[in-house]
Amino acid sequence: MEQARDQWATKIGLILAMAGNAVGLGNFVRFPTQVAQNGGGAFMVPYFVALFLLGIPVMWIEWVAGRYGGKYGHGTLGPTYYLMARESVKPKTAFIFGIISGMLAFSLTVLMNSYYLHIVGWSAAYSYFSVTGAYFGQNPGDFFSSYLSNYGQVMLFWGVTVVLLAIAVGQGVSKGIERWVKVMMPLLYVFAIIMIGYVFVLGSPVDPNWSTIDGFRFIWTPNWAYLKDHFAAVMLAATGQIFFTLSLGMGIIQNYASYLGPDDDVALSGLATVSLNEFAEVVLGGSLAIPLATAYAPKIVPPEVLQQGKTEALSWIGEEFGLGFSYTSLPNVFVSMGDIGRIFGAMWFLLLWFAGFTSAIAMYNYLAALLEEDLNINRKVGTWIVFVIYLIAGLPVVFIDGYMDQVDAWVSFQLTLLALFDVIVAVWLFKPDNFWEELHKGAYMKVPEWYKPIILYIAPILLLIPLVGMVTTLVGATLEWPARIAII
Ligand code: PHE
Repeated sequence: MEQARDQWATKIGLILAMAGNAVGLGNFVRFPTQVAQNGGGAFMVPYFVALFLLGIPVMWIEWVAGRYGGKYGHGTLGPTYYLMARESVKPKTAFIFGIISGMLAFSLTVLMNSYYLHIVGWSAAYSYFSVTGAYFGQNPGDFFSSYLSNYGQVMLFWGVTVVLLAIAVGQGVSKGIERWVKVMMPLLYVFAIIMIGYVFVLGSPVDPNWSTIDGFRFIWTPNWAYLKDHFAAVMLAATGQIFFTLSLGMGIIQNYASYLGPDDDVALSGLATVSLNEFAEVVLGGSLAIPLATAYAPKIVPPEVLQQGKTEALSWIGEEFGLGFSYTSLPNVFVSMGDIGRIFGAMWFLLLWFAGFTSAIAMYNYLAALLEEDLNINRKVGTWIVFVIYLIAGLPVVFIDGYMDQVDAWVSFQLTLLALFDVIVAVWLFKPDNFWEELHKGAYMKVPEWYKPIILYIAPILLLIPLVGMVTTLVGATLEWPARIAII
């Protein structure tokens, strides 16, 4: 007899774990970056369209697939998609679908963690540096570069993070993951709300011409002209962000949903995950980095750009925003706040650390489940095998310049590709009627009938378009790589 699978102990634990899975660095670092670099309000239009036509449907599909696999004792994509595809194709063909999605999910998780965990590690380091005031009185840009070139220090904070992850995952789902997220997630929301309260009170801290309101205006005024001129790029960025932030197209939502009971609700819970994530992204994430950057524009933007006017200064901020922004420009802001800046900075980076950690737990658990269930390796041993895989995969980030952005682009592409697999296998091969029935089994809500064609037709068509776009850009960018490596 098979041993009973672990299950979520409480409803609130499940919801917080799912929210922890989705709410990550994507909400507080990647989202403001994407908004800033894609014309502010221009980005928000396709963002909400993608949320409604793709994000919510794929979230439901993944919850349904996960609970279905869990019923047969599987928490990974390979076996789950094999079982679902078998509803309409021969076992051999179903096997191919299982293998491809399983391998995609595995490589994607490893690839993504090769850089994601580093940023989580930087956040731990910077939380510490904020408390000690290490970057106060220094040029934060130089401080960041010298931190990155101090490999020992980088590896230390990264290593501690990964060891803690291994411990949490090694304890299992209900006794480990659930307990950790129940502490981290509420704290994350509390930290964010305290900081936003402060940002609002702040108004115009250094110059009456610049206030937090400028940041809100930049995000919330639809910029149709920009959208028209950069339509394809903004669409791609918005779709990619929706997948990234909701943790879709990776197998992670399915994995968490596999620890549900066979009749536990998925419809309302899936929607709750989306809502909690969007609250954390659009409301909380949108109220921090960008409004802070505009309120402190005179401290961040070079004087010659400031002189040219607000629009120029805003687009300078947009160009500067990137992965490093939180670690180079925001410390300037914290320093300008004086002593409160230390607490504020520590809170900001601790928030990033919690956000990243609770997403990383989900990815880590996926790999642990893969070793445990598909390869029969004991969970404790498995978690340390994953540890070694992460260690090896994470090395290029430390040593190769520009590796992170390249990999991030590939990750967005693979997320979208796997999401297309979700629709093909878990809806079409599983059969739309079966899917609809599963979605409503034990459900606390009824999904309106008119939403069905969105899931069945509109979502897969919308997935195909960015995929084609991404392939062309990616192949072009990757072809330049051999030359870059040769330079190193
Ligand atoms: N959703 C997470 C974030 O916003 C990232 C993530 C993507 C985590 C896919 C797991 C799987 O940071």
